[in-house]
Amino acid sequence: MERAIGIFDSGVGGLTVFAAIRRALPDESLIYLGDTARVPYGTKSSETVIKYSLQCAKFLVERKIKALVVACNTSSAYSLPILREKNNIPVIGVIEPGAKKALSATKSKRIGVIGTSATIGSNAYGCLLKEYDAGVSVVSQACPLFVPLVEEGWLNNEIAKNTAKIYLESFKHENIDTLILGCTHYPLLKPVIAEVVGSNVGLIDSAEAVAEELKMKLAEKRLLNKKSGPSAYQLYVTDLPNRFEKIASDFLGGKIPSVKRIEL
Ligand code: DGL
Repeated sequence: MERAIGIFDSGVGGLTVFAAIRRALPDESLIYLGDTARVPYGTKSSETVIKYSLQCAKFLVERKIKALVVACNTSSAYSLPILREKNNIPVIGVIEPGAKKALSATKSKRIGVIGTSATIGSNAYGCLLKEYDAGVSVVSQACPLFVPLVEEGWLNNEIAKNTAKIYLESFKHENIDTLILGCTHYPLLKPVIAEVVGSNVGLIDSAEAVAEELKMKLAEKRLLNKKSGPSAYQLYVTDLPNRFEKIASDFLGGKIPSVKRIEL
């Protein structure tokens, strides 16, 4: 069997990246790990996020993956350098592709970023955006309650709407024209976020940009799957699979592979 691509996130959020990769690279087999026993990562220290990320990567690398996608902004913000240093395969994070996509979308050069407390605290987006374009203004806001809402499957109810209103209020007078969804859970709340920020603000979901970057990297390293045949998808979680299965099947649509629980 051809080697698979490994993808991990703290929970269900990385499925937004899984779905984009499945669309962009339909001939590739994918192994997804959601660390649901320890979600959220976004409220934890950098040391803890790095430790958990190394454990997730180890599980996937032991399955002989040919590339690793860190489908979590929090983990990308803190652990990409060490994951790259320790693993001799391409390691793709979500922050660089998202930042590039935002810069190509903005006209006013006023960009908003939302993410977990850890991602916003790291200022990973702010630094990168300024490195790419010193003339850009960046306004950031942590939205820690968005992740539990998504994990609970509350994507479009009153509580989700009111939470979004409170968090996104601060952008009202900032005149941003682009908002980076700097957490892979947030695209699942896109309709609610879009309603609150209004149609003048473009929402940047880095999932597609990540899939494109992965495709380029695999082509460059001659790692693209040559045999076209049925692709295999494996889904793993670190706690009870029931809720993950429900959100995964609503979000991915159709029949999803059975979800296996593992220990890290
Ligand atoms: N989905 C993750 C992210 O992109 C993390 C959410 C969390 O575990 O706090 O940051």
